[in-house]
Amino acid sequence: MAARDTAVVILAAGKGTRLKSECAKVLHSVGGRKMIEHVVRACLPLKPTEIVLVLGHQAEEVEATISPFGLKTVLQQPQRGTGHAVQVARRAIPRSARFVMVVPGDAPLLRAETLAALVEAHRRDEAAATILAAELDDPTDYGRIVRNEEGGVAAIAEENTATAEQRAIREVNSSTYCFTQEKLWPALAGLRPENVHHELYLTETIAALAAKSEKVRVQLASDPREILGCNTRVQLAEVDRIFRQRKAAALMDAGVTIFLPETVVIDPDVEAGPDTVIEPCVQLLGKTRLGERCVVRTGSVVFDSRIGDDVKIEPHSMIFSSHIEKEAAIGPFARLRPGAEVKRGGRVGNFVEMKNAVLQEGAKALHLTYLGDASIGRATNIGAGTITCNYDGAKKHRTTIGDRVFIGSDTALVAPVSVGNGAYVAAGSTITEDVPSNALGIARGRQVNKPGWAVRRRTELAGELASKRASHKRPRAKSRRAVRRPARRGAKRASRRR
Ligand code: UD1
Ligand code: CA
Repeated sequence: MAARDTAVVILAAGKGTRLKSECAKVLHSVGGRKMIEHVVRACLPLKPTEIVLVLGHQAEEVEATISPFGLKTVLQQPQRGTGHAVQVARRAIPRSARFVMVVPGDAPLLRAETLAALVEAHRRDEAAATILAAELDDPTDYGRIVRNEEGGVAAIAEENTATAEQRAIREVNSSTYCFTQEKLWPALAGLRPENVHHELYLTETIAALAAKSEKVRVQLASDPREILGCNTRVQLAEVDRIFRQRKAAALMDAGVTIFLPETVVIDPDVEAGPDTVIEPCVQLLGKTRLGERCVVRTGSVVFDSRIGDDVKIEPHSMIFSSHIEKEAAIGPFARLRPGAEVKRGGRVGNFVEMKNAVLQEGAKALHLTYLGDASIGRATNIGAGTITCNYDGAKKHRTTIGDRVFIGSDTALVAPVSVGNGAYVAAGSTITEDVPSNALGIARGRQVNKPGWAVRRRTELAGELASKRASHKRPRAKSRRAVRRPARRGAKRASRRR
């Protein structure tokens, strides 16, 4: 797929007025990545002579986004149209490059295969320009490919200047082109900004070349959706949907079951092993990797996490930057924050939060618990309502619990504190001192039972109630009369009027 004799120019200077955003268009995220990153990634496999990025709006932010790719950049300030952008890029394009491919920064669905095929078609036909085009059911807002009587390309007509007849054309310009370098510059030099925006349109080089009888070719994209731009939020959502469909389809092809895939959001770098099942409304984000035969049930969100084989993630669990080993079970309604580690066969149940905490093999915390800055040993049981009090208002402290420990329900462990292997902690304890191995830690008020106390209390209460009623009888009767009299008079008057 290499195109080493080709320089690529990516147009990314525009603001994207139609998005109505503070943020430059190419910085908007779609399909789990910034728009510009998708476009750059599609160009890289071509191994071109050079990739030149034309920057303008929020140039620094865009440059920072693509800095890992080490591309050349030029600044287009002010932005005077797509033709002007290519003129600005000229100084960064090596003269040795035979071809110049222009790619818009706002067409993130473009695939490397499509770009490579465009260069190949251009080379084969020895054309001056080859336009990547597509036939759209709704061509509104795209430049239309206008043909002459022989069927050759005559021009590109933009929406706002097209005739009614031209608007009916469904073959549209993708804004991705391959030019032969020596033909491009003279055609661009002849352009004049004679339009309402006083801009130089790259589309007009096509008419200029055609007028000089240069070969202008059209290459149709195999999938028309690939050329879709993101000028508006509606288009952005549509393109995002296509990305998610593509990713879900790729995972299903690799043996993952996805139910109602149209409700599932999966980022491009996510991996999942065969026979894993993903239920509706799940989000798998960032660099998440799921093993084989896992189940991720409805409403769960997993971000940047590693999940081993045979893991069950029950509904509505949130798992962020965590590591879960094979055969573990999480949720429902669990929240694993960064640094949570659940070793093989560990179980985390409902309303359990973990942060920077390790649950060793076979350990369980099944109900209503917070484990922060803690390590929990093998086969230890954490009772319902256990809290590691890790924060003293200034610093965080660790709780260390050994193997085969039993922590009774409603225990508060005030860190720093440790519980030795095989120890028990009695329910309702507030543990402030270390519990040695195999000991019972118990830290709560001792219970006292008072026989017959309840009967005496009830008798007392009944007496109090009776004397209260007696003292309230008179004033109540008075007030009832005082309230009723005027009400009755009013009622009589009303009936007389009728
Ligand atoms: C453009 C094409 C249109 C095509 C459509 C495909 C022109 C005049 N029209 O329209 O025929 O069907 O793309 O999506 O080219 N940019 C700059 N500097 C500028 C202006 C734009 O770098 O001065 C960049 C933008 O950031 C964007 C790309 O060029 O990434 C295309 O510009 P945009 O304004 O989106 O053009 P469209 O109106 O979509
Ligand atoms: Ca566009």
